[in-house]
Order: sequence, then C-alpha cells, then structure tokens
Amino acid sequence: MRQLIAGNWKMNGTRADLKELAALRVALAGNPPGADVLICPPATLIAPAFAAIAGEFALGGQDCHAQASGAFTGDISAEMLKDAGASAVILGHSERRRYYAETDAAVAAKARAAWRAGLTAIVCIGETEGERVAGKALSICEGQLVGSVPEDAVLARLAIAYEPVWAIGTGRTPTEADIAEVHGHIRRCLLSRFGAGGAALRILYGGSVNPGNAAAILRVGDVGGALVGGASLKAADFLQIIAAAPAA
Ligand code: 13P
Repeated sequence: MRQLIAGNWKMNGTRADLKELAALRVALAGNPPGADVLICPPATLIAPAFAAIAGEFALGGQDCHAQASGAFTGDISAEMLKDAGASAVILGHSERRRYYAETDAAVAAKARAAWRAGLTAIVCIGETEGERVAGKALSICEGQLVGSVPEDAVLARLAIAYEPVWAIGTGRTPTEADIAEVHGHIRRCLLSRFGAGGAALRILYGGSVNPGNAAAILRVGDVGGALVGGASLKAADFLQIIAAAPAA
C-alpha cells in the first residue's frame, strides 16, 4: 500500500510560509515521491497554498464543523475546506479533544461531514501517558476508534492516525514494538468492523516523527504513513521524511 505522509501545521504559518510549500512543490516535481503527500496548513492558507502548489501534493484542513453552513461563529465547514482547495481534513486530534472537549460522537459527526463534502477524513486516536502506564493504551485506542469512526464509514476516504498524546511535540516516541502492537490492534479492530475493507485502510503514526526516526517508524508493520507536526513546517525536513517512506 502506498503510504501517506501528512503534515499538520497546527496554528503555525502565515503567507510568508507559503515559500516552504513552493519549495516542496519544486522538489516533488523534480523527484516524484513514492508516497502520497498532504499538508494541512491553517485554514487561512489553504486557498493561497492551492494556487501555489499546482497540484503537486494535496492540502487538508485541521478540523471542520459537522454542519455545512449556519450560525456557528468562528467555525469552518467541510464544504468550505473543499471549496478552498482541500481534499482531506484531520479530525479528533488530541489537541481538539483536550482543549475543545471534542467527544468521539462529535468526531464521528465531523467525519460524516467530511464525506458529505467529498473529503478524506483522517481520524486521530491515541492514549495519554497515564493511560499507557496503566496498561490501557489498546483499550483507549479501540474505544476512540469505535466511537469516532461511524459504522457506515466511507472507507475509500478514511485514514486513521495513531498519535500517542505523550509523544506529540515531546521528542519522545514509542518503541517500534509498541507502535507495532497498537497498529496491529487497530488493524484487527478495522478488520472485524469493516471486513476486507479494513485491510486497505492506512493507519498513520504521529508523534515526534522527524528525519532521523522516520525510516524506522515507517517500516513498522501496519504503519501506512505518518502525521507530522513540527517537522512538517520546513520543506527540507519534511522532504527527508517523505523520502524515508518505503516504496509501495
Ligand atoms: P509533532 O510531530 O510535532 O510531535 O506533532 C504530531 C502531531 O500532533 C501531528 O498531528
């Protein structure tokens, strides 16, 4: 399966940073990647980024509202992301769950909105450090997966991102064996829920992925790509991670 290397810029980036996307476009045009590439900049940059990257890679949002439009001050709908040039949206990121109290049910509603608009939903799950220490990593991930991914999921436009909360922005990563254990468990859950369709879903790993550790992480069984935060902000770093993806 072709891997997906996705960058989550979080609340970073102004128009001055479009130069990083332009650099990415030039590099990828000259050396076509062996993986699918996606950048999720702040929503304000999606439209100018779309104009700047000439279709060389894909763009996504970092969240969306469940409704298509309406009196929801400050929110952005999946349809608006699509209109701006996005083809995907990150949903249920642990920062959204933590700072905005997003529940699994809210994430599931947003996933339906993404599919309604024709976007790929990248649904994030992952345990906190306390939950891992308590031996609950697998059950927490399974619970979030069941609650956040609707029964009638559009499998062709779904990816899962396993992001252990304690590994995000900390420089700490799980061992390869731990990543393999969680990704294997997620795969088994997807297979039991969606049958053969669950075999083709990409399960991304996220949390302190960088040019130094990407090659090892991307070769772990059932890892179908990466969701990269800090190391996606600079084209030079992100290109090294893209290059580290094993060929399909
Ligand atoms: P870092 O790569 O900065 O740890 O962030 C990971 C993340 O949260 C991506 O969604």
